[in-house]
Amino acid sequence: MRVGILGSGLMGAKLGTLFARAGHEVTFSYARSKKKLERLAVEAKHGARAGTPAEAAEKADALLLAVHWSRLDDVLGQAGDLAGKVILTCCLPMDLEDKGLVIAHTWSGAEELQKRLPKARVVQAFNTIPSEVLFSVYEARRRATKPSVVYCGDDARAKKVAAKLIRDVGFDPVDAGPLRMARYTEPFTMLVGQLAYEMSDDPQLSYRFERRGKG
Ligand SMILES: NC(=O)c1ccc[n+]([C@@H]2O[C@H](COP(=O)([O-])OP(=O)(O)OC[C@H]3O[C@@H](n4cnc5c(N)ncnc54)[C@H](OP(=O)(O)O)[C@@H]3O)[C@@H](O)[C@H]2O)c1
Repeated sequence: MRVGILGSGLMGAKLGTLFARAGHEVTFSYARSKKKLERLAVEAKHGARAGTPAEAAEKADALLLAVHWSRLDDVLGQAGDLAGKVILTCCLPMDLEDKGLVIAHTWSGAEELQKRLPKARVVQAFNTIPSEVLFSVYEARRRATKPSVVYCGDDARAKKVAAKLIRDVGFDPVDAGPLRMARYTEPFTMLVGQLAYEMSDDPQLSYRFERRGKG
């Protein structure tokens, strides 16, 4: 797939690199310097490119949206018309101090994004994973037991794309249902973040859901 990265920071740079390693055509966009995007593309190899948000979006089969909530309007404005596009958002609607969610419980950042882009196909994915674990999960991707990623969305085709990308970087995709489930996964991410970053030095945390029979 052609995958456009809108926001090439901790999440976007790592996931973009892993998508490229997994065989996708990646365009990195939206960082404060063009040089950084070019460096990421060179380091990711596998034909990865640097571009503007509009270039990343133009022919993309899927877009990863990975910016601070406060940058949303800016990056969407630069990306142009996203009607029909599959958008995987890992963005959390955090306040400027990164201390709490500005949307929670009865609505979510993912639903807000879909409301702003009614013709796009929004899936919430990868938001429940601390960026520090991404490379080690990818390295261990051939193991039988993989950590889970919860994703949700209202568009079946977009969810298939999301599930493939989640699998390609080494996780087991867990379909949490419609996009409104993001109201619960976003606060869950806060829990994962607290657990990951409360540990000393190098936060390393991933989780796995298992179905258990009754009794
Ligand atoms: N980090 C995590 O572990 C994690 C986990 C789950 C969810 N999330 C969510 O994922 C989203 C992205 O998080 P992140 O940690 O990847 O953020 P980040 O490292 O701050 O990356 C954000 C990107 O936006 C770019 N940017 C910021 N201001 C800009 C501006 N004025 N012009 C152009 N580009 C600009 C940054 O540029 P530079 O590269 O130049 O800084 C960076 O590439 C957030 O909504 C966060 O809540 C993060």
